[in-house]
Amino acid sequence: MRLPETPALLLADRRALRHILTNLVGNAIKFTPAGGHVSVAVQSEAGGGLELSIADTGIGMSPEHIKIAVTPFGQVENARTRKYEGTGLGLPIVKSLAELHGASFAIDSALGAGTTVRVGFPGSRVLEWGLTGDAVAPSELAFAV
Ligand SMILES: Nc1ncnc2c1ncn2[C@@H]1O[C@H](COP(=O)(O)OP(=O)(O)OP(=O)(O)O)[C@@H](O)[C@H]1O
Ligand SMILES: [Mg+2]
Repeated sequence: MRLPETPALLLADRRALRHILTNLVGNAIKFTPAGGHVSVAVQSEAGGGLELSIADTGIGMSPEHIKIAVTPFGQVENARTRKYEGTGLGLPIVKSLAELHGASFAIDSALGAGTTVRVGFPGSRVLEWGLTGDAVAPSELAFAV
């Protein structure tokens, strides 16, 4: 996990944000074979925005797969050949929740080369940078799956 040095206050629906994170981290873990890595980062952006990114070193998706993945019930493999559980609703819901917050949603992926999903909240939703806290942000904390 990579976090900014100073905590930020994000104006967002708590449940929606939790949903976004659990779905994206869940996908990253599900589609990354053992021995791979999943990492979560929060970064400030030019203009005061805040970007969440969830990256994995897993199976990845082709550009066509990405289009399927963001459509409701879209899964890259069909039900018969599929080896991963799920309904195919995770990403479309995450995308809608991001957009309801005025956030951008982007998937960078290539087959066999991992996936990074970015959710970029606009500066208008970042209330304060530098809210003090004694918590020491871990600079880098990735976990293996
Ligand atoms: N990190 C990822 N790496 C590789 N493929 C992915 C990744 N995330 C999503 N996909 C592909 O996109 C499809 C749709 O993802 P989505 O989260 O919507 O559904 P799901 O995980 O299959 O089911 P659900 O989230 O509803 O339990 C997945 O079935 C998978 O094929
Ligand atoms: Mg999912």
